[in-house]
Amino acid sequence: MKHPLAERFDGAAEILAKIDSRIPDTRDHTTETRATINAYHPKRLRLRVEAIIDETATTKTYRLTDSENGALPPFLAGQYVDVFIDGTSRPYAISSSPATLDHYDLTVRRVPGGRISNLLIDILEAGHVLTTTGPMGTFHHNPLFHGDRVIFLAGGSGVAPAMSMIREIVERRLERSFHLIYGSRDAADVIFRAELDALAARHPGITVDHVIADSTPPWTGRTGFLTAETISELAGPLDDRMTYVCGPQALYPYALEQLTTLGQPRKRIRFEANGAPNDPTAQPHWPADADPAEEVSVTVGDTSFRTRRDRPLLDALEDNGIRPEAGCRSGECSLCRVRIVKGEVHTASEAKLRLSDQQFGYTHSCVAYPITDVEIDL
Ligand code: FES
Repeated sequence: MKHPLAERFDGAAEILAKIDSRIPDTRDHTTETRATINAYHPKRLRLRVEAIIDETATTKTYRLTDSENGALPPFLAGQYVDVFIDGTSRPYAISSSPATLDHYDLTVRRVPGGRISNLLIDILEAGHVLTTTGPMGTFHHNPLFHGDRVIFLAGGSGVAPAMSMIREIVERRLERSFHLIYGSRDAADVIFRAELDALAARHPGITVDHVIADSTPPWTGRTGFLTAETISELAGPLDDRMTYVCGPQALYPYALEQLTTLGQPRKRIRFEANGAPNDPTAQPHWPADADPAEEVSVTVGDTSFRTRRDRPLLDALEDNGIRPEAGCRSGECSLCRVRIVKGEVHTASEAKLRLSDQQFGYTHSCVAYPITDVEIDL
């Protein structure tokens, strides 16, 4: 019987005959496909510290290369890699340009009391090899969705993803308007200052404004915080510009308030994920009678241990030698998902749970806190 398409379209009969005579592809593509996926989205990278750049008294940039494979996997400006060290891991934004894949730059600032940032800065030397994840994260600019006009509010080392975005604009000659408003504690704390100022002077699409909290001379520029007034004076009407925010946790609610005052809709504000909440007990759904310092027991298979209620489950597991997969450590990527078999946890509002997670008892262990004795499945 004649195919109905052959009657309706000239040439359809020939095409159908070709399809009928095709040799079925019976090869198993699994290995090939896996190799391609691994090349673009590797689970792990082994990266050599090629050089260390002193940025400020408290900040260093580590230039990392893959001496075995040469070119590194592609990434989008704004993404991070998770660095594995001392039985745990931490995400660090890539500050180099995605147009240059012979290295990734990771810019690390000492966090007072921070275990991993201090360890990295104190022990890392040129020639050391680090294990990291491949590039990850959703805090990147997509001109299709986010347009070509961007405002970026950065605080401290939160400037790292902005630096990557700016370097990409310059290297790829992108037609984009990018306004960085960068808050620092004092003038000596400004990371990438010379390069940022030079790029802004040379490229009309790039604007960089520094706002320094401590007004001590010799700083003669703008002082204070990233208030609505300052943002408005520097950037003018926000119009339909996408606003990015990256910096210390305290900046987030503050920036949201300032931007909302200026009429910026929430859907045009993007926040970089930024760790588990400093104080989960401050969240309204923390149970009032749950003393954060009290210890509860956590059981995983045959292993049980005790931990404080205010210790994220992921950290508590790592403290006890159990290493679930992890990435953002901020509730976003879902790599650290665990199932709560028994007991109650406080899942912080940072967790981006899927409906099915909630239905079937899963949570993101990086931002989940054991309220009662719990049993979990990894
Ligand atoms: S590590 Fe990403 S959600 Fe927990």
